[in-house]
Amino acid sequence: MPIEATEKIWFNGKFVDWDDAKVHVLTHALHYGSGVFEGIRCYNTDKGPAIFRLKEHVDRLFDSAKIYYMKIPYSKSEIAEAIKELVRINGLKECYIRPIVFRGYGEMGLNPLNNPVEVAIAAWEWGPYLGEEGQKKGIRAKIVSIQRITPNTLPPVAKACGQYINSILAKLEALNCNYDEAIMLDYRGFVSEGPGENIFVVKDDVIYTPPEYASILKGITRDSVIKLAEDMGYEVRERDITRAFLYLADEVFFTGTAAEITPIREIDGYEIGVGEITRKLQKKFYEVTHGKDEKYISWLDFV
Ligand SMILES: Cc1ncc(COP(=O)(O)O)c(C=O)c1O
Repeated sequence: MPIEATEKIWFNGKFVDWDDAKVHVLTHALHYGSGVFEGIRCYNTDKGPAIFRLKEHVDRLFDSAKIYYMKIPYSKSEIAEAIKELVRINGLKECYIRPIVFRGYGEMGLNPLNNPVEVAIAAWEWGPYLGEEGQKKGIRAKIVSIQRITPNTLPPVAKACGQYINSILAKLEALNCNYDEAIMLDYRGFVSEGPGENIFVVKDDVIYTPPEYASILKGITRDSVIKLAEDMGYEVRERDITRAFLYLADEVFFTGTAAEITPIREIDGYEIGVGEITRKLQKKFYEVTHGKDEKYISWLDFV
C-alpha cells in the first residue's frame, strides 16, 4: 500500500512540505544503513488524538542512536514536542509516526563520524501492518531459514536502518513460500521474533514470550501486552521457545506498533487457530490505546 502523503514533514528542526523532504543520493545512510528510527502510533480518543507510550519510543530512539555513536542534535523533549506538533499541523487523528536519525551527506567510507546527524519525522494514516483481515482472522506464518541477527553482529536492541536488511530477507522468504509473515530463530535455534514484530505463545492458559537474550528488539507493545496480561490475571513467562512449542501451541500472536496484536492462525502448515486469550488482549489493547481505560491513561500523550 503506497504511503498516504500528508502536508508537512519535520526535517532538521523545521516543518517542510511533504515533497520537499529530500536527501542527496550520496547520503551516508543510503549506502551503509547508518540510521536509526522509530515507529509510533497515535490513536483517536474522546479527548482528541493521543500518542501511545511516546516517552518509551523517544528513549529507545536515543538508545539506538547511542549504540551507533550518533549524538542527536535535539533533546528528548524537543523530539517529543516535534512529534506532537507534527500530528497537530497535519490535522491527523490516528496515524503512524516515523522519526529517523541518520548520517547525512559528507564523506564516503565506513567512518561516519564526520557526517552530519540529521533528523526527520513523518506521520501518515496507516492501518494495521498485517491487514485488518489479518488482525481479525489471523495470518499464516513460516519459520524461515534466515536467522535473526545476533548480539555480537548487529545489536538486536537497536532499531537501526541497516539491521532491517535481515528482516527484509526473512519477509521475502516467507512471501515467496506463500506465507504472510516470517518467524525468525535466533543464533541458538530458539524462536526470536518476526521481521517487525515480537511473538507470544499461549499454552494451557499461560502466556510465553522469548526473552531479551533471544536476540529480540525489546518491543514497546510487547512490554504493554505483558503488563496488560498480568493485570488481567494471566501468568506471563519470558523463556526460550522451540519451534515445536509453536506448532503445539493453543494460540500464537505477533505484537508491534505497526501490527498491534495480530493472531497467527497457522505456522509451517500446522493449524493453530485464533484463541480467546488473544481476543481478550486485542480488546483490552484497543481500549487502552483509545483512552477507554483510566488505569493506563498515563501511557497516552495527548497532542
Ligand atoms: C524487529 C522488531 N521487533 C519487534 C518490534 C515491535 O516493537 P514495538 O512494539 O516497540 O513496535 C518491531 C517494531 O518496532 C521490530 O521492528
